[in-house]
Amino acid sequence: MISSSKQSKEEKQEEQILSPLEKDTTLDMQLRPKELTDYIGQEKVKDNLKVMIEAAKKRGENLEHTLFYGPPGLGKTTLAHILSNEMGVNIKITSGPSIERGGDLASILSNLSENDILFIDEIHRLNKNVEEILYPAMEEFALDLILGKGPGARSMRLSLPKFTIVGATTRMGLISAPLRDRFGMVQRLDFYEQEEVEKILQRSARLLNLEYDKEAITELAKRSRFTPRIANRLLKRVRDFAEVHGNGKINAETAKRALEMLQIDEMGLDRNDLRILEALIEKFGGGPVGLKSLAMSTSEEEDTVTDVYEPYLLRLGFIKRTPKGREATDLAYKHLGKTNKTNTLL
Ligand SMILES: Nc1ncnc2c1ncn2[C@@H]1O[C@H](COP(=O)(O)OP(=O)(O)OP(=O)(O)O)[C@@H](O)[C@H]1O
Ligand SMILES: [Mg+2]
Repeated sequence: MISSSKQSKEEKQEEQILSPLEKDTTLDMQLRPKELTDYIGQEKVKDNLKVMIEAAKKRGENLEHTLFYGPPGLGKTTLAHILSNEMGVNIKITSGPSIERGGDLASILSNLSENDILFIDEIHRLNKNVEEILYPAMEEFALDLILGKGPGARSMRLSLPKFTIVGATTRMGLISAPLRDRFGMVQRLDFYEQEEVEKILQRSARLLNLEYDKEAITELAKRSRFTPRIANRLLKRVRDFAEVHGNGKINAETAKRALEMLQIDEMGLDRNDLRILEALIEKFGGGPVGLKSLAMSTSEEEDTVTDVYEPYLLRLGFIKRTPKGREATDLAYKHLGKTNKTNTLL
């Protein structure tokens, strides 16, 4: 067993290749679609947003408050920017953890102009005091200020311009009901289909002026965890590989070799996913096992297990969530080349 402290720097870097949590700011910005027509997939979400945008434009009003949720790297931030573009309004960007006090939020809100979008990333991490300021602001475009202290304190109501909050979260379950209820539009982003990831990769390859063939794109899409951020990152790594080990052209052969070198298997699983599955099967007899024990036995944060590993393993049908905990499915046993003893006894 290699303990994580003994892993080389290179190994650590490799492990992050498939982490949708690692944001590649430059690459993300470079490849981020700017209009809804450029945004591939998520058809239902796009349809709903189109109607909302049209309606707001017709009435000459601000957009409804909108909440996007879903696993990391699927395009929530991108959609927030697209909304501002399509509406031709300013977008200001902040995040739940960066607004520490009520006063911070009050000052952000009072600096907004009519129809502006305030994007709050990781909105599930807003603290309670801050959230309470947000309620009247979202509902009535009002800011309640308390002036003075003690018995002499007075409250004063300031009115705000009609703005739009766009929130994003990977953890819908952690959003309080009163906050959730103040969003007129709530949209869930789901993993992309294979063909959609292929289209995203083709678009990115064009933007990066890469020469590629179709099989290489299929190969990359298969291993991208149905996640655009990862697809783009793999494309970039394969491009580097093709430049060093080939003539720069991305073909199936270079794609396969590069992905092998990155230790990403044909289902897009890396060593971390395999560690989780192995622990589930070997240490816990296939489950059911609680999140805490599973995270502890693999030295992972619980949040990382729920945000990163689990959604994809669920999507592949490799694990199931039951009231008693997580269970490995037959597909997982098969992928690891192991026998499910419980089933063979039946
Ligand atoms: N539908 C799409 N079509 C094309 N490219 C996309 C699409 N969605 C996302 N991308 C690409 O993936 C990158 C990551 O998307 P984005 O930053 O919006 O994800 P996110 O959901 O906000 O992730 P996080 O939860 O980590 O903040 C974008 O910069 C963009 O290049
Ligand atoms: Mg984001």
